[in-house]
Amino acid sequence: MPKAPRTIFVCQECGAQSQKWLGRCADCGAWNSMVEERPAEGPATVAHRFATGGTASTAQLYADVELRSHERVSTGIDEFDRVLGGGVVPGSLVLLGGEPGIGKSTLLLQAAASMARAVGPVLYSSGEESEHQIKSRGERLGVGDAPLYLLAETCLERILEEIVRIRPALVIVDSIQTVFSLRFQSAPGSIGQVREAATQLLFAAKGQNVPVFLVGHVTKEGSLAGPKALEHVVDTVLYFEGERHHSHRVVRAVKNRFGAVSELGVFEMTANGLRAVPNPSKLFLAERPLNAPGSAVLCAVEGSRPILVEVQALVSTSTYGTARRMAHGIDAQRLSLLLAVLEKRAGLHLGGDDVFVNVAGGMAIDEPASDLGIVAAIASSLRNRPLPPTVAMFGEVGLAGEVRGITQASLRIREAAQMGFSRCVMPEANIDSSDRSIGRSCDLVGVRSVGEALDHLLG
Ligand code: TYD
Ligand code: MG
Repeated sequence: MPKAPRTIFVCQECGAQSQKWLGRCADCGAWNSMVEERPAEGPATVAHRFATGGTASTAQLYADVELRSHERVSTGIDEFDRVLGGGVVPGSLVLLGGEPGIGKSTLLLQAAASMARAVGPVLYSSGEESEHQIKSRGERLGVGDAPLYLLAETCLERILEEIVRIRPALVIVDSIQTVFSLRFQSAPGSIGQVREAATQLLFAAKGQNVPVFLVGHVTKEGSLAGPKALEHVVDTVLYFEGERHHSHRVVRAVKNRFGAVSELGVFEMTANGLRAVPNPSKLFLAERPLNAPGSAVLCAVEGSRPILVEVQALVSTSTYGTARRMAHGIDAQRLSLLLAVLEKRAGLHLGGDDVFVNVAGGMAIDEPASDLGIVAAIASSLRNRPLPPTVAMFGEVGLAGEVRGITQASLRIREAAQMGFSRCVMPEANIDSSDRSIGRSCDLVGVRSVGEALDHLLG
């Protein structure tokens, strides 16, 4: 009787392998995540690589290693270049993750078209849409006669063949979860397939010195399918964020071997594709109500970029026994902490009130420097008194009610001054005489505690 082919069980969350099926992964603890897969034909071990005549590299002395600056190629979309750290690095593998329908394919098709026009042929391989569907989208985006090759294919080996044949200046694989390798018999999208496909594309990228963009789907929990396996393999991980009901989209770098992380690009979805927003502060403050209680403007810094956003708070008497607290765009735990500080250190009575906090425009902020703005918005709503409309604020709030210094104060002040704010309420520790000259038109008011800040703002 022929021996049954050997199979292994692979956790779809973390990639751990086991000989037996397990209800719970022993490595990451995920339930019901083990799927039966067949291992790849032939061992891909070091010994195997030597045996097949692969080139083995030798260790080099640090001093002998040539220093090479990465020459970068512009994607033709400024905001996208910024997130990538100044353009695409040839030979790099970039993963773009995001929810379905957020605009991943749109952005990459636009980048593909402009790079095809400026640099050379681009290969756009899609396992999700046919060539016709991509073309009808391309017509809206004005792709025109750029040398763009479309390939509706899910077989990895075929995609690799086309890369060798066309020798493109850029490769896009939309999406990595639809690609399967003939060497594996597990289903496309399973962790084994995703990892194999990403690794093979990495070799292709490095071997041919061509940048490769992968589109990745996110799971319901907001992480990429096969997250750990993929994020380790690629050079850069970008996330596409935004709300379906808002037209603006944010692309954020969460890992970048060739640039700064948490760098941010802001786009607006229009009828003709994504349009870069060079001045996001203007966009986020566009609908700000002046002289409305509960509205505060804070200066956040994302990566190297300062952004002014409006945070809104609504405090109203709770009609039920327990007060409700809701946070949109800021961390709910952080809100609870700030409310406790306001109650205990600034003498505000919020125990019987519902508190809702929202960052306008669907933007998400996770910097401690936003604390002071949130606290001011809540106090303003509670007292039903508006904050002065031309004041911007930033500063971290500590548990003792103190306002602590933060990083990149000059950058924030400059942005506030540029956007026409006449005063910045900020940590005393960050007041620096050199900053006074930056915002000559902008008054700098240093505060040491939440109480002092609220006295100044609400009188
Ligand atoms: P898409 O790029 O297909 O999303 P993803 O690849 O992330 O799943 O974006 C689809 C959405 O964008 C869809 O809801 C329609 C909208 N859209 C526009 O508003 N304008 C446009 O020019 C295009 C091409 C798409
Ligand atoms: Mg798509």
